[in-house]
Amino acid sequence: MSSFLLLRSRLLTTATPAKAIVPPLTRGFRHSAISMGLSSKLKPAARVSGQRQDVWSFINEAAAASPKQPIVNMGQGFFGYNPPAFLLDAAKEALDRVDCNQYCHTKGRPRLKKAIADAYSPFWGREINPETEVTVTTGANEGMLSAFMAFIEDGDEVIVFEPFFDQYISNIEMPGGKVVYVPMHPPATGATKTSSAADWTIDFDELEKAITPKTKMIVLNTPHNPVGKVYSREELQKIGDLCVKHEIIILSDEVYDRLFYVPFTRIGSLSPEIANLTLTVGSAGKNFYATGWRVGWLIGPEHLIKYVSAAHTRICFVTPSPLQEACAVGFEKAEAAGFWDETIKEMKGKIDRLNAVWDELGMPYSEPEGGYFVLVNMAKVKLPEDYPFPPHVINRPRDFKLAWFLIQEVGVAAIPPTEFYTAENAHLAENYIRFAVCKEDSVLEEAKNRLRGLKKYIQE
Ligand SMILES: Cc1ncc(COP(=O)(O)O)c(C=O)c1O
Repeated sequence: MSSFLLLRSRLLTTATPAKAIVPPLTRGFRHSAISMGLSSKLKPAARVSGQRQDVWSFINEAAAASPKQPIVNMGQGFFGYNPPAFLLDAAKEALDRVDCNQYCHTKGRPRLKKAIADAYSPFWGREINPETEVTVTTGANEGMLSAFMAFIEDGDEVIVFEPFFDQYISNIEMPGGKVVYVPMHPPATGATKTSSAADWTIDFDELEKAITPKTKMIVLNTPHNPVGKVYSREELQKIGDLCVKHEIIILSDEVYDRLFYVPFTRIGSLSPEIANLTLTVGSAGKNFYATGWRVGWLIGPEHLIKYVSAAHTRICFVTPSPLQEACAVGFEKAEAAGFWDETIKEMKGKIDRLNAVWDELGMPYSEPEGGYFVLVNMAKVKLPEDYPFPPHVINRPRDFKLAWFLIQEVGVAAIPPTEFYTAENAHLAENYIRFAVCKEDSVLEEAKNRLRGLKKYIQE
């Protein structure tokens, strides 16, 4: 269990969380309610109060402390450019329409549900029913929270592969679920040789051993953040077969489904038995470069989708209506505008553009098969022995030190991926750093110029 999770589970059993372990940037509620002398009755719930400094605050703090201003931010996966004009125009038009500015059906605007069903039916090889098999959510994240809220009760187990998208964990734990971790194994030669993201593999014996009678769900992410792996058809078939055998719901997070550089298979399309158990998650934010719009959806069989919709209704009622309308237009126009092909070409171009600098520096990386993250192995970077890391960095895994060092010395922010691991398995990723390439080309070029400054720290 990661110290993050350890800390959290410890706090779940402690009436008042220990003050000393709260880093300054994340004191938040506890600071105001407890340390300012207010009644302990006002203490925040453990689910939000026990978190140690999250990786995003860590990066912000490191950036603020760096002499290399402004920092080139390749950390968080938001786009450095706007959605396509056909989407922006549609949003502006939607804002002028009375019906678009009001509540819509909690399951989503009919036009968006239809546009999603039309766009995805060809991948499933059958007609998806927009009324019963699609539900619109407030981003993929809230969609997944709704799925967990819909099916997970106290003590139910959910299998999650490591590294994981960090929101899964709290979303599973909120309804009382227990996360069971199964690691993805990095390529054995990752520290010395560039390899394909396909070489991060699952040990299927480990996966089967993780299944118990309490296993209710498994979370899959393909294309994968942060690894960039696109699960092969064979891997998905094996996972699907196990889920059918043990009757486990598959929550397939496919938010990067339009960004694949090798053939991409959707687990829900493999067989009717697997489809019966599969909820597929999508994100207009990722598809259309609009992460701030908070429009996502789930596709799945009626017997699963109706409960996800019920949970979504309780959590946030509806998703912003004008932006749903704009996303509907986006789906209607994207194919004819050549947008899906263009998005792949552009993103792959950005990946290659950045990776040229690693080739130049002789630094191995994991060649992404999908998505927009690159994992670079920095085992060769020799951190100076006497480097003045602040106290809250010194005790974190090596990738946190690398991230801090990169920000201070070359002025480039990137993410330490052990944040997405438990403590037992953090060693698997402690030499890696994750770079988001969904930025303007000029930003990538500036990042490359700066990253060349690492040369003097590289030891073969
Ligand atoms: C794997 C994965 N799933 C889900 C999300 C969240 O998507 P959304 O912004 O639509 O909530 C992200 C965002 O970074 C992600 O990387």
